[in-house]
Amino acid sequence: MKIVLEHLTKRFPNRNKKIRDEVVAVNDFDFTIPDGKLIGLLGPSGCGKSTALNLICGLEKPTEGKIYFGDLDVTALAPEKRGVGLVFQNYALYPHLSVRENIRFPLENLRGDKKLTKQQMEEKVLEAAKLVQIEELLDRKPNEMSGGQQQRVAIARALVKRPQVLLLDEPLSNLDARLRLQTREELKRIQLETGITTVFVTHDQEEAMSISDTIVVMKDGVLQQMGKPQDIYDDPINLFVAKFLGTPQINVFTGEVIGEKVYIDKAQVCDAPGVRDGDVYVAVRPEGFVVDPSGPLICEFIGREVMGRDTSVIARHGNFLGENIRAIIPSEELIDSKDGSVRFALKPSKVRLFDKGSEERIRVEA
Ligand SMILES: Nc1ncnc2c1ncn2[C@@H]1O[C@H](COP(=O)(O)OP(=O)(O)OP(=O)(O)O)[C@@H](O)[C@H]1O
Ligand SMILES: [Mg+2]
Repeated sequence: MKIVLEHLTKRFPNRNKKIRDEVVAVNDFDFTIPDGKLIGLLGPSGCGKSTALNLICGLEKPTEGKIYFGDLDVTALAPEKRGVGLVFQNYALYPHLSVRENIRFPLENLRGDKKLTKQQMEEKVLEAAKLVQIEELLDRKPNEMSGGQQQRVAIARALVKRPQVLLLDEPLSNLDARLRLQTREELKRIQLETGITTVFVTHDQEEAMSISDTIVVMKDGVLQQMGKPQDIYDDPINLFVAKFLGTPQINVFTGEVIGEKVYIDKAQVCDAPGVRDGDVYVAVRPEGFVVDPSGPLICEFIGREVMGRDTSVIARHGNFLGENIRAIIPSEELIDSKDGSVRFALKPSKVRLFDKGSEERIRVEA
């Protein structure tokens, strides 16, 4: 089921009457979520992710705009009529009910010709439990299970009615690192198996990158960029998106373009064919640094962190925005840092330029 958002806007009045400003939590969302795909809605706290999700499921009414499921306008449809499955951050399982009863709960409210017999309900509960691999736990109570298992119960409960759309609001944030990884792989598997159009909200860029077919990056209620994870990483539209995707973060320097060459302070670091002279931000992915005894960019060497396959080189430079530069190099590479400095050459394919005023991307000619 594809989801079409048409100029979708949600404004909240400010509670403080002295301030007239409203909060525009979702600002003119106008895009289509393709059928059967997993979309990651990504952005910092307060950017409007949950509001967007609540609009799609019907818990919030839009101030402006429309929502379609397929060709059907659902803007005025009550949440329970939309056929959506929801998983919240805090699972919200009923503590006094067993796992079986928790998963069965949404089925018990079906009325009219949708009403199910006990036998039919049992089959559907078992099917959903199998999907998330908790069929052995059906008689337990929520407090007798790990966080990851409870999470799966919440997902089974959202899936039991076979929703047309699955909406997940930071569903993994209460899990420890290992369980998070495992559960997100499982989520991806379930989504592929069921083919349910899924919207996954997170502020964790790595999580979004790893499981999404498409990522929507938002800031202050405004969509910044939508695309495949790798495309957004390689080709960010502005400095915000460039900084939001990737760990360690992209390294940003103030610099200058003179005669189609890029300078960081006095160091000429790469070419910029077709770019006008002027001040720019020079952003370098951590993997874009090459330790090179004759490299142009001379930095103060702070230290290194060995991370198995890679080494993170920590350095400083007067033009760097922030404290420490983080460069990632292969562990077997030697670092010559006798005089307390380290010299880098930059890989042009890992350097991005941004306008210093608007922070929009400056494209170089291919
Ligand atoms: N019911 C409400 N009344 C007034 N303002 C609200 C309401 N709900 C949300 N907001 C505001 O709308 C903005 C977006 O909130 P939202 O909860 O959608 O953000 P979020 O991206 O989900 O953040 P987080 O990552 O912290 O969960 C925030 O500025 C928030 O304060
Ligand atoms: Mg939220």
